[in-house]
Amino acid sequence: MPTTQSSEITAASRLENVRYAIRDLACVADEVAMQGHKILPLNIGDPNVFDFVTPAHLIEAVYKAMKDGKNGYAPSSGIKEALDAIRGEAGRKGITNIRDIFVTLGVSESVDICLTALLNPGEDILTPCPDYPLYSAVLAKLDIGLNTYYLNEEDGWQPDLGDIRRKITPRTRGIVLINPNNPTGSVCSRKMLEEIAELARRHNLVIFADEIYDKLILDDDQHISLAAVAPDVPVVTFGGLSKNYLAPGWRVGWGVVSGDNAAVKPYVEGINKLLRARLCANHPEQYAIKPALEGPQDHLIEVRKKLRSRRDLTVKACNSMPRVSCVSPRGAFYAYPRLDIPEGDDVFVKELLLQKHVLVVHGSGFGQKPGTKHFRIVFLPDEKTLSSAYAAIGEFMRERYR
Ligand SMILES: Cc1ncc(COP(=O)(O)O)c(C=O)c1O
Repeated sequence: MPTTQSSEITAASRLENVRYAIRDLACVADEVAMQGHKILPLNIGDPNVFDFVTPAHLIEAVYKAMKDGKNGYAPSSGIKEALDAIRGEAGRKGITNIRDIFVTLGVSESVDICLTALLNPGEDILTPCPDYPLYSAVLAKLDIGLNTYYLNEEDGWQPDLGDIRRKITPRTRGIVLINPNNPTGSVCSRKMLEEIAELARRHNLVIFADEIYDKLILDDDQHISLAAVAPDVPVVTFGGLSKNYLAPGWRVGWGVVSGDNAAVKPYVEGINKLLRARLCANHPEQYAIKPALEGPQDHLIEVRKKLRSRRDLTVKACNSMPRVSCVSPRGAFYAYPRLDIPEGDDVFVKELLLQKHVLVVHGSGFGQKPGTKHFRIVFLPDEKTLSSAYAAIGEFMRERYR
């Protein structure tokens, strides 16, 4: 008789550091929904769940590609017309010294490939705190310890340059800059970009410029690409269709490597080795890249208009609640209000969900300065939903914390 294996199959211990608070809360939400309550979802950054739709000309381009038989594997770096369009867009953003361009399964896969191609055991990269959890998840997978730098709430959530300087060690290989930022909605000034580039230059760091929200600037500022202010510095600029072009389910993103050619050459070879090993990104969806970047941009006017009014509503509501204060976001669709409460923000978020059926994400899921507490709001829902949610949060604050 063959013996049956009785011991459980344990997951790798390095996964203990993988956290994805945004989706982890879903289990509690399911429970609340099963009790028949309608949840007000201010937690997931998917525009298509709300009143934002993928531009029709992009859907047509993908449909046509499928009908035209573009259903086999694509080249590992991406199809030529998409690469040309991304190059053109990078040029319009002032990025020169382009050394490589590749299309991936969302920015998520670009990040995975680019960090994997760079880091040896014992090395690290600087990631922002609070951060978008993708970076720490990939680093956990690689068994690379976290080295985080603070974003400074008192300075509109700009990177804390002093902290970055203090955290750079001989083992530090790169720095991640998310601009516009998730979860804070901050946008970096040219001066800040230049200062970060100077640190990278001095310490031989690769900059990972995550600019996936670059067309979602809510005020009159102009988005400046980090690579554009530092053509000599090795920079990988990330962009994609998920946010600006309202198509997150297509899983289309890209990376643009710029900088001194001799410096980045071996790294680009490493990236391409990994790109080939995973065959290719989604093929027909890549046909939406050229019409997205070169075609009509009308949807963006409407998107920014909606986001601006929802942002204003959010900031006003938060700043009028007891024990809540909120720096006004200037880009993307996130706000990161501060809480002055005697218990953890994870408890706050869970109780808010159980008692008022409003779903937000706790600051401790993104990281924050010790002693501070926050929660992240996604202000994609319409004004009516947001107003109901903020009325409920205000009531909760008054009832629970007086
Ligand atoms: C800062 C940031 N980078 C990357 C991603 C992932 O993007 P993609 O859908 O292209 O994988 C997100 C998604 O929310 C994000 O907020």
